Amino acid sequence: MPARLSALKADITTLRVDAVVNAANTALLGGGGVDGAIHRAAGPQLLQACRQLGGCATGDAKLTPGFALPAAYVIHTVGPVWHGGDKAEPLLLASCYRRCMEVAIAHGLGSVAFPAISTGVYGFPPALAAPIAVETVRAMSALQDCVELIVFCCWSDQDLSVYQSILEKPQPLHSLA
Ligand code: AR6
Repeated sequence: MPARLSALKADITTLRVDAVVNAANTALLGGGGVDGAIHRAAGPQLLQACRQLGGCATGDAKLTPGFALPAAYVIHTVGPVWHGGDKAEPLLLASCYRRCMEVAIAHGLGSVAFPAISTGVYGFPPALAAPIAVETVRAMSALQDCVELIVFCCWSDQDLSVYQSILEKPQPLHSLA
């Protein structure tokens, strides 16, 4: 059964889901934004676990425990830096969402919360990023029975309304499972 997709405004570090997704960088050694918040809330064991991973390529994703977070796991992914849109940024962003879903499915996770990957420091326009996020996750979710709930966790009211309008849009019949 496809997962239920929803959007809410929250601090992702407070969500009690099987996994929260971290918008990290290729070193996986922490940073600002949502990455900094997740590391602060998870505690220093998260950095130790990340050191064992040997970094992560842009568009890929890797799993660690969530340590002190309410979430059991963190799926670390690395979004593209926005360079104007003709440097494969949309494909790389879609790859982040696809790889996170693959990791979640491979580990039997039932609920996953995503931040708006790449739309902060990395500069990807939020209104272009949100449809890529929703379409990629929706397509992945239709192919599996494992993940039951996807949360698009927004940090601003503006992001929330962008996601809500996409999620409320009627879907073409051929894409309904
Ligand atoms: N909960 C949910 N969303 C949040 C939170 C939070 N606690 N904090 C920020 N956001 P960003 P990026 C939103 O910059 O663009 C880091 O330094 C934020 O408003 O965190 O992928 C990494 O180490 C925005 O909508 O990630 C990398 O170097 C979204 O999360 C770099 O930033 C993503 O913003 C990655 O940049």
